Amino acid sequence: MIPVSLSLKNFLSYGEDVPPLDFTEFDIACLSGNNGHGKSAILDAITWALWGEARKASGDRSPADGLLRLGSTDMRVEFEFDLEGDRYRVIRKFHRRKSAAGNAASLDFQVFDQASNGFKPLTESSSKHTQDRINATLRMNYETFINSAFILQGRVDEFTKKTPHKRKEILADILDLQQYDTLVELAKRHQQQAKTDMAVVEARLESIKDEVSHQAEYERRFDELTQRLDELDQQIATQDAARHALQQQQAELLTKQAQLREKQQQRQQLASELEQLAHRVKRQQEEIRAVQTILDQRDAIVRDVERYETLTQQNRQLEQQAQDIRHLQAQQAFFEQVIDRARHELEAERKTLHSQQAQFEAQLRDSEHLLNRTQEIQDGFQSYHQTKQTDEQLDETRNEVDRLERAISAAKREIDRHQARLIAEVEALTRRIAEIRVFAEKLPEHEARVAEYHRLVTETQRLNSELDQKKEAGTQCKTRLETLAAQHQQTQKLLDEAREKFDLLKRSDAPECPLCASRLDAQKKGELDAHFQRELLTLEQELARNDIEQRDQQAALDRLRVEYRQLEQQAKTVERQREDLRSAEHAAQQCREAAVQLEQLRQEHARLTERLEQKAFAVEAHQQAEDLQNTLTALDYDQQEHQALKKRRKALEKYEGEHAALTAALERERAIFTQLPVITQQIAEIQGTLDRQEFAQTERTQVEALRSQIAAIGYDEREHARIREELPRLQTALTQKARLEQAEKSLGQLQQTLDEWQQEQREKAARLSVIETETRQFEGELAAFPQIEQALHQQKAALETLQRERDQAIQEQGIYEHKYQRCLELAEEQRLKAQDFAQCERDVKLYGNLVRIFGKDGIQSFLIQNAIPDIEDEANIILSRLTQNKTHITIESQKDLQSGGTKETLDIKISDELGTRNYEMYSGGEAFRVDFSIRIALSKLLAKRAGTRLRTLVIDEGFGTQDAQALEQLVEAIKTISADFEKILVITHLETLKDAFPVRIEVVKYPDIGSQYQVVR
Ligand SMILES: Nc1ncnc2c1ncn2[C@@H]1O[C@H](COP(=O)(O)OP(=O)(O)O)[C@@H](O)[C@H]1O
Ligand SMILES: [Mg+2]
Repeated sequence: MIPVSLSLKNFLSYGEDVPPLDFTEFDIACLSGNNGHGKSAILDAITWALWGEARKASGDRSPADGLLRLGSTDMRVEFEFDLEGDRYRVIRKFHRRKSAAGNAASLDFQVFDQASNGFKPLTESSSKHTQDRINATLRMNYETFINSAFILQGRVDEFTKKTPHKRKEILADILDLQQYDTLVELAKRHQQQAKTDMAVVEARLESIKDEVSHQAEYERRFDELTQRLDELDQQIATQDAARHALQQQQAELLTKQAQLREKQQQRQQLASELEQLAHRVKRQQEEIRAVQTILDQRDAIVRDVERYETLTQQNRQLEQQAQDIRHLQAQQAFFEQVIDRARHELEAERKTLHSQQAQFEAQLRDSEHLLNRTQEIQDGFQSYHQTKQTDEQLDETRNEVDRLERAISAAKREIDRHQARLIAEVEALTRRIAEIRVFAEKLPEHEARVAEYHRLVTETQRLNSELDQKKEAGTQCKTRLETLAAQHQQTQKLLDEAREKFDLLKRSDAPECPLCASRLDAQKKGELDAHFQRELLTLEQELARNDIEQRDQQAALDRLRVEYRQLEQQAKTVERQREDLRSAEHAAQQCREAAVQLEQLRQEHARLTERLEQKAFAVEAHQQAEDLQNTLTALDYDQQEHQALKKRRKALEKYEGEHAALTAALERERAIFTQLPVITQQIAEIQGTLDRQEFAQTERTQVEALRSQIAAIGYDEREHARIREELPRLQTALTQKARLEQAEKSLGQLQQTLDEWQQEQREKAARLSVIETETRQFEGELAAFPQIEQALHQQKAALETLQRERDQAIQEQGIYEHKYQRCLELAEEQRLKAQDFAQCERDVKLYGNLVRIFGKDGIQSFLIQNAIPDIEDEANIILSRLTQNKTHITIESQKDLQSGGTKETLDIKISDELGTRNYEMYSGGEAFRVDFSIRIALSKLLAKRAGTRLRTLVIDEGFGTQDAQALEQLVEAIKTISADFEKILVITHLETLKDAFPVRIEVVKYPDIGSQYQVVR
């Protein structure tokens, strides 16, 4: 993987508008900038984009929350890289919501497509699957990455500090040994499959063996069954012949049975015909007897018929008469009705006139009472009119009075409202005055506090200047003490040197000076001796002086410290008190303002009270009320008088109606007096006509004529009734006569038919007796039929049993034949399966070997063993360059066990010119060099790995432990390995390293826009 470009948004210290970092601009570069300015953040961005992993707080499950720039909600990192000739792009985003559950993350993976000259998505259905795809493409996880090529800040020892087991895992990852694990899995699956197949084949062989062992038995059973079948076939043939004979007999009898049934039918037919015939003969004889009886009554019937005819004649004449009379009577009744109607009309007219007359008389009687009171009613009516007029005038006056009264009370309400408002204002003012007075009275108290505050300010100033003085004195003391200590060290050094020289001089017997090699005689030696003794004394005295002064200075400093602390305490107390009083000035000012306000309020109170007392409010309303009252008084309306008038009007009201009735009555009386004589005249005339019967004269004449005609006809009603009664009785004689005539005609015919039927009867009886004889004969012959049927039935059953046995035998024979055939086939299968089994056995063994070969202890262990010398060599080349060939490492992959044998491990042994020591026993700087060398060696191994997956090296800080010389060597070492990597990025805050590389990316963090980078060449 070779980085191409990186874009960040709101990532750690990076803000919104950060231009992309273009990695193509350099091969080896230094990323510099002060601490905390966002250098490591760039590496975090790369690992977060690729694996969603980066620095995180220890409690966090996922780092995203902590990586999001404080104060923003959307974070985005876009990272482009090259891998084996393809260009890929990863875009990872994170969006923070109000609740952690609402946070949203997204991941996109894309590959550059030459054809469309754009990126096309490789993103999967879920972020997890997309991540799997990225890992598969990189063939590397975060852990391996930061253990090799990405040397993160403070994690250079990531690999070295791991347990041997973990180290081995990482090495396996770097060597991409998982592919062998995949092969192991595959081999295991194949082996398992071969084992399963083998078990299946084995089971099959077992069951074949079992089957084949029955072959001989199947053959024997087949032969037995063939023999039995022959026997059965013979038995069936015999039985079949016997059955055939019986069936023939049965057929003959069946024919006879049919004939018998025919005879029986004929017999039945004849019997029923005979029965009908006998019935007919009997009826015929009866009829002949009835005809004879009629013929015997002949004379009586003839007599009756003659009488009937006479009576019928008479009846017809009487009928005619009766009809004529009914016709005349109807005419008479019609005329009588006309006469009656005329009379009724006259009577009705008379009645109407009577009732009219009575009505007039009644009306006259009714009016009489009213007419008698004529004078009284007319007077009453006149009084009523006058009263009504006065009342209506008074009603108007009262309406005006009401209107005035309403207006007056409205004006009064207005006055009341004004007064209430004024009173409320006065009360509010009273309350406010009371409140403010309490507040204003606090003024002296607050003024005292203000004075105290000013005093404390002055006090603070004094204390502060005193503190400054003490501090100054303390600093002087400290400086003096430091000077003294330096002098002491210097003097001590001179003293030590002098002593050494003095000792040398003393111990030496040689003739030359051991110090300057000049010749030494006794005198010179004595002089030197004295000189040194003097010098030693002076120096010792000086040291003693120095000690005394140091003690004094220290004592003074301690004193100053105590005093300083006391003063500080005092200042704090004063400060606290002053703080308490800080508000006093403000409070006092407020009190003064309150006093002014109080005076204003009091004046306002006095003004309002006066207005209330003098009623100096709502002036217009007062005036209006007075005017209205005057108008009201002027109207002089008396309510009681008005009420009395109303009562009087009520009492007189009835005269209004009575007056109208009186007028109407007078009118009516006049009309009646003209009509009444006319009516009386008319009644008298109608009564005359009625009494003299002078109406419907014509009709009366007609009625008389009709009465005479009816009498002239002379119709005998009684005689007519008697004939009518007798006639129905004689009517039967007519039918009797018809029957008699019929009997005379039919008697001969009847007798002839009877004779014929009796002849037929005799013939049929003879035929019946012949059929009966034949029937009996057939019945005798059919007596043997049941036995034959029985025999036939038994025969059939026996035959069926035999056939069933035969069918079963055939079926069984088929089964055994099939089984025998199957045994032959199985024998062949057995041979083939045995070959399969051998093949499976070989596969199981083969795949077992492959599992071992590809496994951890096989090729994987071998490859690790193989890689270790490379790592060792590579690390040692760098290490010797960094330590001038002093330090070496060895990596042991096997450990001898005390119990004998070896154990797989991965131990790192470090040795220098002093010998081999534990990693922990080396200094920070030394350890860094070892870690660095091993990590570079691992990174180179990874870079060389098949497929050149990771050709990038990043080193984030860690050089702080190195001195100037070591730093130079490190830079040199990095430059020499640069050929092995496509990109190298060295991150450091050290000024000295800044210019050691051809390209520098300078990172600066600004408070407002966040971190920014700039490429400097
Ligand atoms: N969530 C955050 N939002 C903004 N700034 C952050 C956030 N987390 C860490 N930082 C700051 O981002 C900076 C990261 O700096 P880093 O890259 O580690 O510095 P250096 O340049 O020393 O490697 C630090 O100043 C750190 O305090
Ligand atoms: Mg850093």
